[in-house]
Amino acid sequence: MAIRTRITDMLEIEHPVVQGGMQWVGVAEMASAVSNAGGLGILTGLTQPDAKALAAEIERCKSMTDKPFGVNMTVFPTINPPDYKAYTQAIIDSGVKIVETAGTPAVRELWEMMKPHGIKILHKCTAVRHALSAEKAGVDVISIDGFECAGHPGEDDIPGLILIPAAADKVKIPLLASGGFGDGRGLAAALALGADGINMGTRFTATVEAPIAQAFKDLMVANDERSTDLIFRTYRNTARVAKNEISQQVVAAEREGKPFEEVAYLVKGVRGREGLQTGDTNHGIWSAGMIQGLIHDIPTCHDLVTRIVADAEAIIRQRLTGMLV
Ligand SMILES: Cc1cc2nc3c(=O)[nH]c(=O)nc-3n(C[C@H](O)[C@H](O)[C@H](O)COP(=O)(O)O)c2cc1C
Repeated sequence: MAIRTRITDMLEIEHPVVQGGMQWVGVAEMASAVSNAGGLGILTGLTQPDAKALAAEIERCKSMTDKPFGVNMTVFPTINPPDYKAYTQAIIDSGVKIVETAGTPAVRELWEMMKPHGIKILHKCTAVRHALSAEKAGVDVISIDGFECAGHPGEDDIPGLILIPAAADKVKIPLLASGGFGDGRGLAAALALGADGINMGTRFTATVEAPIAQAFKDLMVANDERSTDLIFRTYRNTARVAKNEISQQVVAAEREGKPFEEVAYLVKGVRGREGLQTGDTNHGIWSAGMIQGLIHDIPTCHDLVTRIVADAEAIIRQRLTGMLV
């Protein structure tokens, strides 16, 4: 038995489980492991220093899996933007046919570049109105990211229990439920709420193949659902990160009304990356979601995806059907 949805059909994958783009984590080892497990692995474009390096990473991923995989392009609000178009051109030239996008409306220019090449665009957003406008612009899949998620939940604070069915009521194209998913109960719930599959970030960082130091994986097992902080609230660029010494300093500074410039040195991307590599979990900030409360082990991606799907099947077949009288 398997779970077949519009997502498995469209993306030609075995299981309706997608690994969202993850800065510093979404490299070939991660993406190929998820794709080989029957889900959709995604390389993170901007984790590579330039377009040429991304092209090489895509080739490396191709050598590690013959299954479909995608690339994430996130357009950040930043003063010195990377050359997004060069990265996108590298994706087009590589022949990759699935791209996850996220970020500011400037991402539309990238959609226009990719669409003529038959690339399926999964757009991740945090509000129904943004989903509808992306659908109108021609994207192929909406990934709707609830308040529970790691990374950027937006400013509306609508949890998945409301956001997913609200999106399912209006979005006509296939829908991925994102934010707070990590086990079979979540997958069964997402399908019940009207989604065609799930997108996971945090849960995939606590796997054998995730290319981060063991200390982070162990910490996620130890952490509970309260182990996150919302930072940058006062700058209207909210991010959910793992609670640590740095995130607490940022929260305290924002409470005192300090401007971004005064915390910028704490939240530098390079600090986050150094921490993930060296195992110092208090060196910088790192994205992690509330799902940490449901992470109790560090399986391989294959074991994780297989378990999620098997558990969801059992819930649908036994628990839910068994309640019908
Ligand atoms: C370590 C990490 C880094 C992330 N980096 C990005 C990113 O660069 N671009 C992006 O669109 N989403 C990023 N995300 C968000 C994920 O793609 C996904 O939307 C999110 O993790 C879903 O919520 P969950 O963590 O509860 O599964 C990141 C998540 C994590 C855990």
